[in-house]
Amino acid sequence: MLLDLLTSRRVVFVGGKGGVGKTSIAAALALGRARAGARVLLVSTDPAHNLGHLWDRPVGDEPTRLAGPGDLAPGAGTAGHVDGLEIDPERTVEQHLSAVAGTMRRLLPERMHAPAARHLELARLAPGTHESAVLERIAEAVELGEEAYDLVVFDTAPSGHTLRLLALPEQLASWTEALLANRDRSERFGAAVRGLGGGEHRDRDADLRRVLLRRRNRFSRLRKVVTDPAQAGFVVVLTAELLPIAETMEVYEKLTGLGVEVTALVANRRSPADAGEVLARRRGQEDQHLVRLRQQVDVPLLEVPLLPGDLVGTQALAALADLLGPSSS
Ligand SMILES: Nc1ncnc2c1ncn2[C@@H]1O[C@H](COP(=O)(O)OP(=O)(O)OP(=O)(O)O)[C@@H](O)[C@H]1O
Ligand SMILES: [Mg+2]
Repeated sequence: MLLDLLTSRRVVFVGGKGGVGKTSIAAALALGRARAGARVLLVSTDPAHNLGHLWDRPVGDEPTRLAGPGDLAPGAGTAGHVDGLEIDPERTVEQHLSAVAGTMRRLLPERMHAPAARHLELARLAPGTHESAVLERIAEAVELGEEAYDLVVFDTAPSGHTLRLLALPEQLASWTEALLANRDRSERFGAAVRGLGGGEHRDRDADLRRVLLRRRNRFSRLRKVVTDPAQAGFVVVLTAELLPIAETMEVYEKLTGLGVEVTALVANRRSPADAGEVLARRRGQEDQHLVRLRQQVDVPLLEVPLLPGDLVGTQALAALADLLGPSSS
């Protein structure tokens, strides 16, 4: 059912409270779609990565094959595969800052180089640097998805963090907008002072403008994809307990407010009704929580049972994918 809901989407974010099963569900989704023939890129944006543990092979900052046609269900006979990518925020920030440093050296007069370098050193530690770098990588992964994959699945960090990231394109776009407006004013002023001469200045201005424009376009493209339900979906994973349910409702409100459609909820690790009194009582309590959740949030809800054993490796993930419903190709 979940796989069906997501068939036409190009981008899926999997979010939810810490420890509820985001990484497992994201990986099973990726595998399920790959079995139906899709080329899938599975991206972890959580600084505490565990795609590598889950698939039992090293995953890094470049796409790595996690499951190829040979690992998928026999008879799949398709080009479907899963590549994994763990965004390394430290490396991202370093790359980002060294690119900015290069641009600044190119665009700023010599005497500004030292203060600019000091400014960048501070930026490395400033709140938001990390997040905007990760956001840039998310945008990049969506673009890579457009070129080389049918679907990009994001395994996100616990909810609050992801929501801030999804709100960021808007903020960053308007920040860039303000910078550009400023440039326009100072360009006109500068042109007047220079009597429209001064090729070097004009080149610098044009360069800086191009950099800012590229950034703005990238973020507004991301925003467009994320807020278009035909292209992007958001799956919230939860366990049917008091706090995860409360947080799910909060996340639902916030995402809706940001113009992001919640495609489905997954109530994970449902207790069995027939495996002893304690679990049966837990099940009863979970049922009550889910009734309350359904009353407040009108979104398809899929229940996934508590599974025995560790959820590690392609086989275990395939079993989990079976529980996410059939997937049409
Ligand atoms: N349906 C299930 N049945 C049994 N165990 C499960 C199930 N789903 C997930 N788990 C287990 O629960 C633990 C947490 O799952 P997972 O790492 O996917 O959660 P997460 O939301 O990504 O956590 P974090 O917020 O730390 O990233 C793992 O040990 C995983 O194997
Ligand atoms: Mg995780």
